[in-house]
Amino acid sequence: MTAGQADALQRLWPKWGLDIDGQRVVDLGELFGNGNPVVLEIGFGMGEATAQMAAADQETNILAVDVHTPGQGNLLNLADQNGLNNVRVGNGDAIILLREMLAPDSLDGLRVYFPDPWPKKRHHKRRLIQPEFLSLAATRLKPGALLHCATDWEPYAEQMLEVLTGHPDFENTCANGGFAPRPEFRPLTRFEGQGLDKGHVVNDVLFRRVQR
Ligand SMILES: C[S@@+](CC[C@H](N)C(=O)[O-])C[C@H]1O[C@@H](n2cnc3c(N)ncnc32)[C@H](O)[C@@H]1O
Repeated sequence: MTAGQADALQRLWPKWGLDIDGQRVVDLGELFGNGNPVVLEIGFGMGEATAQMAAADQETNILAVDVHTPGQGNLLNLADQNGLNNVRVGNGDAIILLREMLAPDSLDGLRVYFPDPWPKKRHHKRRLIQPEFLSLAATRLKPGALLHCATDWEPYAEQMLEVLTGHPDFENTCANGGFAPRPEFRPLTRFEGQGLDKGHVVNDVLFRRVQR
């Protein structure tokens, strides 16, 4: 962690940080101080793309969660330096946040950009995008909310498409039932850049939570 990241954590955590302790249901209106739509981003890494999206659409609140402390400091710094009041940073496991701390139908969107690919077969069970996770996420998303994932690991992209297509709570926004073109609102991410440098192909999947 750099000194700047440590300083940002110390200064800004009380204002913009959320400890994911599983102890209470968060009032999102209170957390952001307004009633604007809230999108959850899981695994923001160093947060550059998050800060860009927050700056480009300041009417949307982004609750960004990661377990990586230097990244949390970095994102807080970026939000501060760019005068962004629509980012809150969660420290901890996104599953606990979803399960214990977010109310049903509370999210207007969910973004999962370049989740850890876990390429080895024996580690596939650690991948985030699985039916059980989707069932939990669906309960926290409002009907019509978008779930947007991207990955540079093609077998994982195929898995995302397969499990989302087979899940009754989601429908593909792409009429052809395949991958989506990268929407303009998603900037290139740090991890994506590393993948592209290695010649990887990036795929986006964009599904909608259906009304039950
Ligand atoms: C491969 S990195 C991608 C980071 C960023 N989205 C990018 O594209 O540059 C995946 C990130 O997800 C975070 N992560 C993994 N599992 C998580 C979980 N259960 N809850 C919160 N963050 C998680 C990791 O700490 C890591 O920062």
